[in-house]
Order: sequence, then structure tokens, then C-alpha cells
Amino acid sequence: MKYLSKLMIIAILISMTFIYIEPMAHADEDAKWEKIKQSGELKVGLSADYAPLEFEKTVNGKSVYAGIDIELAKKIADDNHLKLKIVNMQFDSLLGALKTGKIDIIISGMTSTPERKKEVDFSDSYMESSNVVLIRKSDKDTYHSLKDFSNKKVAAQKGTEQEKIAQQEIANVDLNSLNRLPDAILALKSKKVEGLVIEKPVAEAYVKQNEDLIIDNADFNEAKKETVIAVPKNSPLLLEHINKTIKEVKDKKLIDQYMEKAAKEMQDDGNFFSKYGAFFIKGLKNTILISFIGVIFGAIIGALIALAKLSKFKLLSWIASIYIEFLRGTPMLVQVFLVFFGTTAVLGLDVSALICGTIALVINSSAYIAEIFRAGINAVDKGQTEAAQCLGLNYSKTMFHIVLPQAVKNVLPALGNEFVTLIKESSIVSTIGVSEIMFNAQVVQGISFDPFTPLIIAAVMYFVLTFSLSRIMSLIEGRMKASD
Ligand code: ARG
Repeated sequence: MKYLSKLMIIAILISMTFIYIEPMAHADEDAKWEKIKQSGELKVGLSADYAPLEFEKTVNGKSVYAGIDIELAKKIADDNHLKLKIVNMQFDSLLGALKTGKIDIIISGMTSTPERKKEVDFSDSYMESSNVVLIRKSDKDTYHSLKDFSNKKVAAQKGTEQEKIAQQEIANVDLNSLNRLPDAILALKSKKVEGLVIEKPVAEAYVKQNEDLIIDNADFNEAKKETVIAVPKNSPLLLEHINKTIKEVKDKKLIDQYMEKAAKEMQDDGNFFSKYGAFFIKGLKNTILISFIGVIFGAIIGALIALAKLSKFKLLSWIASIYIEFLRGTPMLVQVFLVFFGTTAVLGLDVSALICGTIALVINSSAYIAEIFRAGINAVDKGQTEAAQCLGLNYSKTMFHIVLPQAVKNVLPALGNEFVTLIKESSIVSTIGVSEIMFNAQVVQGISFDPFTPLIIAAVMYFVLTFSLSRIMSLIEGRMKASD
């Protein structure tokens, strides 16, 4: 046990040091720019929950990105003869993704701040913006100035400037930081918070779509802030090319045009399902796909790990124990991020979010399934092994022909439960941008400006999936009992 914990600590420390090694670059050259040119593709990271800057919308049942930042990204890609690839993730994951090389640049309505400047470099600004407080219309006589919010619950998007400003400028504020802006809007509408600190253009977009919200006339002290594009440190050529496009955009006043276009794109008609049904179907497909792969491969790896743990070789059984304990003792969310950022930062691989998410699910479920198998193997009557050995079968023959087939039968119900769990847990990979049910529900929250309906639909979808699966499992179990 003592060795076990030591080994575990060492393993964790090693993986952490690797993850923090940053790619080195010389000042006189720009490895990043070379790499982008070579791949012919510009990976732009953003959080598409921020209309009119970046949001998703459906065109003929297909989802596309739209907004000022998207137009700007397109222009930068076009000007440099690159293909544009949008990578959508939570705002507070963007800086990490940029530093680990998951994305090449960030165009996500990001404000230039001294803290961020330590981590990344910034382009010239392409917009300016100020902050406001969004409130419920019914409260318009209660809140007139920032002072009125002191000691009150106020929301902001996690990792944004607004989070900091709320803390600095509202005395004793009870701040509620939410990962995604639609969640913050939902918190406001459902009276979980009294106000939402938000940038003005975005607030205006929400007010247009939500009759029950208005912008408060409370004024923040600070001056207008610059909105910029973030690039990795030491990428002078990349920065130069971006600034060239920004200069042209400003000279020709293109931002105003982009804004107009975005405003048009934000309003579309049709009913909820004809507009957003495609998102939910796509989410359903991916949820089923990743959970299915999760149990199947989880079961294969899990069976091997279980055998390793039961093995006579101490080392092998130790390694299996560490594997199982580590995976069961750390949150799935952490594992998902470790795989997502680890594949690029440690292994230098360019792996899609879908694959990273699936790998994380497989690894995680394999640990649980290993324990299921171990219990299943142990539950096989000792007499079976003894009889097999009396007949002269060796260890592996006994295992594979006598014990395992019976064990599999023992564990089928537990495997079914694991499948059900996996379907629900798979929603966690939405955080890295895998477009399964939860992710797409969040996308629809963003585009429809309706934070509630998509959640209900997602809940119903998960329920129908897990409920039917449980039914099927009990049918199979009944059959198996009968055949005994
Ligand atoms: N401008 C703010 C900041 O940089 C908020 C940006 C949030 N962007 C988004 N796409 N959600 O902190």
C-alpha cells in the first residue's frame, strides 16, 4: 500500500511537469506561423455564446457560425490563403488551448488586460466596448446605480473581465460565475441573481430577444476597453499578418458592416424544432456513438486490467491497481481535460475533441468495468478452476475457456448499468467541445436566446435513452435466467 501511494504520486507529478512544458520559439523566427502556413489551416478558438460577436445559427438544418468575430476570422484566413477552422469551447478554456497549441489564435471578444498579456500576445484592437448590468424589467425601479447591487447576487461569465469588474466595483457583491453566458442569462431570468455584468453590445443583443430583460443605467467607473485577438507568445509574423488585416478592417469601417450582417443573422423565423431539431439529432448520434464505444472498448481494456489485477505477478497487479484507483479517484472532468490538453502538450498530436472525449470515456469506464469483471471472476465457483486444472488445463486455458465465459454472464447486468451511467456521464465531454446532446443543447441556448427549453429537451432525450436501455437490459436478463 505504501509503495502504491508513492508510485501514484510520482506518476501524477511526472504527468504534471510534462503538461506545463511550453513549446520554445526563437525571437527572430516564427515557428507558429510556419506551422500554420504548412498545414494550410488557421485554427481559431472562440466561445460561440456571445452574439453578436460569435454565435451559432441554423441554415437549412445545418449549424454555422456567425457574428463579427467570425467575419473577421474569415477575412484573416482569406487574406493569408488559409482554410478557416473554428474551434468552439468555453471561454475560460481558451487561453489554455492557445498555450498548448490546440488552437492558433483566439478571436472571442477578448479584452486586452495586463494579466493576460503575461500569458499571450495581443493584436491591435478591432473594437472597443464598455460594461453594463443586465436586469429583469420588473426590477427596473429597484436598481439605479452600482451601489444598489451591493450585498446582492450578481452573475458574470467565468474567466471574463466582467467577473473581475463586478468584484472590484460592487461593494460586497455575492458573485456567481457561470461557464457560459446563456447559463448566466438563465440565472437572471429565473431570479437566481439580481443582475448580470456583461458587455454592452452583447447585452443589447439579449435585450432584443428577451422582452423581460433591460439594461440598467448603472455606470461602471472604468474607461472603454480594447477588444483584441490573442496569439501565442513569440509569434511576430503571425501577429504582423493579423494586424495587417485589422488595419484594413478599420480603414474600411468593415466592423459596422459585420455588425449589420450579424444583426440580420440573429433574427430568423420558423418554429423551434424546424430551426434547432438538427442540433439535437446530431447530438443524439454522437452521444450514442461515444457511449457505445465507451462500453465496448472499456470492456475490452477493463477485462485485461481485471486479469492483470488478479495476476500472480505482483508488479502487474500493482500497476492495474494504480490504474483503477487513479481513474476512480479523480473526477472525470479532470481526466477529460488531461486527455484533451495532454494529447497536444505532451504527445504533440493534433487530435479532435471528439476523439479526445471518446478516449477519456473509454479509459474512465475501463477502470470501473475492470472492477466489475474482477468481481465477476471471483464470483465463479472455485470448484470450476480446480476441476479444470485436474483435467490438465493450464492457467490461460482455464481462464479463457472456463472462468471468463461464466464471468461475462455474471457481469452482463453490471455492464448494462455502466452503459447507462456512461450515457449520462458522456455529457461531461461537452466541456471540450464534443457536440453531443448537452453541447448542442447549450448551442441552442445560445442561438435561440432561450436558456430553458433546450435543457428540457436534453433531459428528455437522456431519459428516453437510459430508460429504454434499462428496459432492454432487464429483458435480456430475464431471457438469460430462463435459459439457466
Ligand atoms: N471581453 C470579455 C473578456 O475578455 C468577455 C469575452 C467573452 N467572450 C465570449 N465569447 N464569451 O473577458
